[in-house]
Amino acid sequence: MTPIRSLDAPEASIRRFAHLVRTGVVDEPVGTARLGIDLGTANIVVSVVDDLDRPVAGGWVHSTVVRDGVVVDWAGATSAVRKLTADVQSRLGCTFTCASVSIPPGISEGDTKVFRNVAGAAGLDVTEVVDEPVAAARALDITDGCVIDVGHGTTGVSILRGGEVELSVDEATGGHHMTLVLAGAYRIGYDAAEAMKKNPARRDDVLGVIRPTLEKMASIAEAALAGHDTPMVYLVGGSSSFPNAPDVFATRLGRPVVRPVEPLFVTPLGIAMREPDHD
Ligand SMILES: Nc1ncnc2c1ncn2[C@@H]1O[C@H](COP(=O)(O)OP(=O)(O)OP(=O)(O)O)[C@@H](O)[C@H]1O
Ligand SMILES: [Mg+2]
Repeated sequence: MTPIRSLDAPEASIRRFAHLVRTGVVDEPVGTARLGIDLGTANIVVSVVDDLDRPVAGGWVHSTVVRDGVVVDWAGATSAVRKLTADVQSRLGCTFTCASVSIPPGISEGDTKVFRNVAGAAGLDVTEVVDEPVAAARALDITDGCVIDVGHGTTGVSILRGGEVELSVDEATGGHHMTLVLAGAYRIGYDAAEAMKKNPARRDDVLGVIRPTLEKMASIAEAALAGHDTPMVYLVGGSSSFPNAPDVFATRLGRPVVRPVEPLFVTPLGIAMREPDHD
């Protein structure tokens, strides 16, 4: 049985990274800094870690350049990556010539190449292409278990063994669908519903309305995990931020579910981190 590891150290790192992204503050790197790029459906996030894999800088921008795991706005993607990279460079006082990029697991070779080429067009050599759940696992310092990534466009369910993706399912239910449901329930526009969804002061008005969407995500995970012995489940991605999300998943899956602090920033942080030794 997989031992339950303490997430104290990874969570301190994730919390620090979230702070760096939100404030623009940078820490002094030890050794050479490494850059990671996460092209998501709702957000593009860049992460910088040092030789000790500690976060030292980050940046993000709202994005519409990726849909269904495919880059749909090439110019928008490259200019956002160029700008975010220039920004962390000037704050850190260094120049990046290479980066790691993440991809949704299971996308085609052609689509993978497009993710690579976005970094290339922004002037960066790609040193590693990391599956998103593998990046999340690095940030959480785990190599085995199930990573459920509830993003804006999709819910991704991946089983990891020895730090590699063994099985991955990605289905089109995410935060976008929660926003649509809220917009319909309150007869408001999409942008107003998106803001309402993330406003802690409106939480009581939101939780009941989005609960069926969370249940649907949990049932996607249940179907993906059927017949698999994965005792530990980790919940990441911005749409797992709701306070009731771990309970909804744990009830449906019949196993403990751990959601780290700042779930939106787990995968982006892990992209820049070094591949752990598996000995
Ligand atoms: N505090 C919050 N409460 C609820 N939802 C949130 C919160 N913060 C962010 N979100 C939602 O999380 C989603 C973005 O999460 P994330 O950045 O993980 O997605 P993404 O990586 O861009 O999408 P995908 O993985 O589907 O490509 C959006 O739907 C956003 O509304
Ligand atoms: Mg994502």
